[in-house]
Amino acid sequence: MSETKVVVAIEEERLELSVRTGSIGPDVVDIGPLYKQLKMFTYDPGFTSTASCESKITYIDGDEGVLLHRGFPIEQLAEHGDFLEVCYLLLYGELPTKAQKADFDYRVTHHTMVHEQMSRFFTGFRRDAHPMAVMCGCVGALSAFYHDSTDITDPHQRMVASLRMIAKMPTIAAMAYKYHIGQPFVYPKNDLDYASNFLRMCFAVPCEEYVVNPVLARAMDRIFILHADHEQNASTSTVRLAGSSGANPFACIAAGIACLWGPAHGGANEAALNMLAEIGTADRIPEYIAKAKDKNDPFRLMGFGHRVYKNYDPRAKIMQKTTHEVLAELGQKDDPLLEVAMELERIALTDEYFIEKKLYPNIDFYSGITLSAMGFPTEMFTVLFALARTVGWIAQWNEMIEDAEQRIGRPRQLYVGAPLRDYVPVSKR
Ligand code: SDX
Repeated sequence: MSETKVVVAIEEERLELSVRTGSIGPDVVDIGPLYKQLKMFTYDPGFTSTASCESKITYIDGDEGVLLHRGFPIEQLAEHGDFLEVCYLLLYGELPTKAQKADFDYRVTHHTMVHEQMSRFFTGFRRDAHPMAVMCGCVGALSAFYHDSTDITDPHQRMVASLRMIAKMPTIAAMAYKYHIGQPFVYPKNDLDYASNFLRMCFAVPCEEYVVNPVLARAMDRIFILHADHEQNASTSTVRLAGSSGANPFACIAAGIACLWGPAHGGANEAALNMLAEIGTADRIPEYIAKAKDKNDPFRLMGFGHRVYKNYDPRAKIMQKTTHEVLAELGQKDDPLLEVAMELERIALTDEYFIEKKLYPNIDFYSGITLSAMGFPTEMFTVLFALARTVGWIAQWNEMIEDAEQRIGRPRQLYVGAPLRDYVPVSKR
């Protein structure tokens, strides 16, 4: 079959560009030769029509509301798998055998402790520092402890660093929470599963035994699965770009955490819960819907809309189901915030503005209600998102390094500033 071409014609100049086809999803036009041949750049701020790489990890069909990890639907992974199984899948490309899973669980479990001197980093922060600020600092500092796994050209060292990141993020996240509330750090326990270990490190106190609630542990594990990876989103692209310069994995993950913090991205779960609390009661919803539609008002419905999903975010449906399970388990089925959220969703999904702009609830719309019910303060919500997304960032970072086509990311621009001009002495200005 002849290769598909796209022709760019400018007056007499004609340039044929190759079209590349993936296994599923849109084709791409290879614009690599564009500048060399036509001395022009493409222009796509926000990268709405730009593929930055080839990837085998995650596929999203935004129109259909489909999310696959290595080909497996998120609904099936959330229903039948556990988070470390999804971590293995994202890192290695296949679901683990029973023996592979046991070995992976053992290796992750036995890397959950952090260097004891890490605990001193926290004391430099104010107690009321936002935990995401603490995470940026402490995760970036990990590269000061693990020089034996920062040679990114060594596949073994990359995998050691990958496992260390996945294993230590819950410990660091729990330490950030404990420091924030003025309670002592709790060490991980190797006889607990990943989610149970994290809940215990967050909520146990020295004065009494902490008994993990299996319903909450399962919900936590599923929430981690839902946040694990999501194609080339802003924070993943940040990690890839940082990694393209050869920066060590810990520094790259710290860059991803910083990007995720933004309210348009991972910070939306905290912003969505604060918005629901501000709305307060269902009768005030129309006032906020009007604000969201007002072009002169910067207010947006947090937890709504998505760059890729122009249908219901499949993760939001699973998240909503998990929310009901957690609230029922905790005897909070009548949580007023849930009532506001469900009424807000009902109204928005029937409103012409949201229908026309294809704005649906995303992963962040219900997660905050669930995490709040589980006992986490809103400022910890994005920390949990970062904890779960670490495996996605790491898997994408590894894929980028192994990709022969990848080189340092260095976009160009359309310059609209002053043309060449001479310096004017201050006496003549
Ligand atoms: C995440 O990319 C990923 O995959 C991210 C993520 C992941 O897992 O990594 O899925 C996680 O970040 C989910 C998104 C969380 N953010 C929020 O919930 C914040 C609220 N949402 C918006 O800020 C917005 O929808 C974005 C940022 C999510 C998407 O922005 P886009 O793609 O740039 O879309 P846009 O801002 O151009 O909006 C298109 C139109 C605009 O109106 P017009 O200028 O065309 O008239 O829709 C409007 C927007 O004003 N719009 C909204 C809206 N979101 C978009 N109007 C009201 N409320 C909203 N939430």
